[in-house]
Amino acid sequence: MPDVDDLKEGKKYYSDTPQKAEGFFLKGSNSLEWGMKDRLARIFNPVSGNTVMLAFDHGYLMGPTSGLERMDLTIVPLIEYADCIMCTRGALRTIVPPTAGKPVSLRYSSGTTVLTELNDECLMDIEEAARLNASLLAVMVAVGDRFEAATIRNLTRTVDLGTRYGIPTLGVTAVGKDMARDARYLSMASRVCAENGAHVVKTYYCEGFEQVTSTCPVPIVLAGGKKLPELDALTMAYNAIDQGANGVDMGRNIFQAGDPIAMIQAVKAVVHDREKPDKAFELYNTLKEERK
Ligand code: R5P
Repeated sequence: MPDVDDLKEGKKYYSDTPQKAEGFFLKGSNSLEWGMKDRLARIFNPVSGNTVMLAFDHGYLMGPTSGLERMDLTIVPLIEYADCIMCTRGALRTIVPPTAGKPVSLRYSSGTTVLTELNDECLMDIEEAARLNASLLAVMVAVGDRFEAATIRNLTRTVDLGTRYGIPTLGVTAVGKDMARDARYLSMASRVCAENGAHVVKTYYCEGFEQVTSTCPVPIVLAGGKKLPELDALTMAYNAIDQGANGVDMGRNIFQAGDPIAMIQAVKAVVHDREKPDKAFELYNTLKEERK
């Protein structure tokens, strides 16, 4: 109970200064409620409008893939450079220090591995995501796949559950062996995610990528895909940002790079400062040399 003995009536009304009605910096997010916006503003830098998410959730379907054999040694040193980390609850509880202070894009759907058939997935409890302080719920959406309906149901359910707690949903567009990676398909997959309530969509780069970003009403983050030479990966990230992406959600092209710590800093220069690919590659080489 506060001391009420000396309460004075307030008189500073500033009647000549109207209260500002500020918009929110992220596309398609202005009508969200406060908790969602707060979480998104931790993931996306309000100055550049973009994010560098470090993805290391691959083990949930691939096991100990190259670069992720010992995440305590290879991933933990990268976390300080990321704007957000994307991982499973297993990785979070076992190797990510709770003191890292980074927003978490939590792998929220899971089911099968590369040994059987992908995309036959289920969801975790929303209370578990809240316990883990997730800032984003990442769900696989496989448009055109045998499990299309199940994955869209998963997305819909995740948006419903996340909305109860103010946690936004990331629709991850899956690309299977038989699915094209062209602008027509990726535009459709991304739009399906957004129309079903995803607050952010993760998809792949393709020829005509502007079609994908411009027809998706929420921010798109670029999935890195298979390992490329460092200059090619930086060029892809540059082109994606230039063509309307709001960042990257990149794994192998960072943690499998010749020098992952130099690479994540070069990617950040592209994503936040719009550094040209050749300059970012120079930065990569300089940082790599300095660290020898
Ligand atoms: C795919 O669904 C996984 O969630 C990965 O996080 C994603 O593919 C990004 O990793 P990479 O850049 O290695 O493709």
